[in-house]
Amino acid sequence: MEKKKELIEQVRKEMNEWLGGYFSGRGTYEKKIFEAMDYSLNANGKRIRPLLFLLGFSMFSGDYKKALPVAGAIEMIHTYSLIHDDLPAMDNDDLRRGKPTNHKVFGEAIAILAGDGLLNEAMNIMFRFCCENNMQRNLDACRLISESAGVDGMIGGQVIDMLSENMQIPLEQLYAMHSKKTGALIKASIVSGAMTGGAAADELCLLAEYGEKLGLAFQIKDDILDVSGDTEKLGKRAQSDIENKKTTFVTEYGLEKCMELCGKLTVECMENLNKISRDTSQLEEITMYLLNRDR
Ligand code: IPE
Ligand code: IPE
Ligand code: MG
Ligand code: MG
Ligand code: MG
Repeated sequence: MEKKKELIEQVRKEMNEWLGGYFSGRGTYEKKIFEAMDYSLNANGKRIRPLLFLLGFSMFSGDYKKALPVAGAIEMIHTYSLIHDDLPAMDNDDLRRGKPTNHKVFGEAIAILAGDGLLNEAMNIMFRFCCENNMQRNLDACRLISESAGVDGMIGGQVIDMLSENMQIPLEQLYAMHSKKTGALIKASIVSGAMTGGAAADELCLLAEYGEKLGLAFQIKDDILDVSGDTEKLGKRAQSDIENKKTTFVTEYGLEKCMELCGKLTVECMENLNKISRDTSQLEEITMYLLNRDR
């Protein structure tokens, strides 16, 4: 148990160091944008997506360090989505990762641009990685990440989320919303990590199923925490969904059923991992951590 945690903590630490240094010292007249991107990127994020990518990678290949930039790019995409998600025109939140939201500190214009900047930087990093490591599987992996963040994935999900405020929606639509807005990038993180590491097609298939379930469980847990979590611990405002009259798994199913569903999806995640004849212990550890998390 301790060994598994040690590796996860080591990977998280290296990711944090890489991200911490990424924008430092950059910019002249436009320095403000680098400060704004760095402010949100290097707050207290859990780094789940880069961890999934790097743990997926290391299941199939030895040295995960060379894949750190792609993992960092994924975290930049995720951070940009949070900056924009918090804007007054969207969820209008004041607290994120334990600090005032980006627009509260830098103003809306810079916050929008910081989001745009992070997304573009992520693409630059992935293109650079592919140019330097010119292999079909790296191109495929980066394409997958980019697609998962777009209108068929995260953006599409955010659109459904915004259009579903203050109304009941069919269950099918609720599932589509969650699997796109959160599930898509989580699934892409694990699959692209394994792909870059050299996984075979059948292994990628099993990991895609795992990622799909993990992503859904992740957003349901996020909805549960919005209702039952603590603002201080979460580092973001609890009850935000309620105030925004969001349609969530909790409003549609109730808390108890949601917790049950999360548990059931976690068991299914574990079953998927068991079918893979590699060391999946790190992914098992992170799956349990996500189910039991309080932030
Ligand atoms: C929050 O994601 C937004 C959702 C997609 C639910 P995380 O819970 O991973 O947030 P950080 O990165 O730890 O701040
Ligand atoms: C946000 O979902 C998903 C994305 C940012 C893509 P939420 O709006 O539920 O995330 P939190 O609760 O603000 O972190
Ligand atoms: Mg939102
Ligand atoms: Mg939000
Ligand atoms: Mg939420």
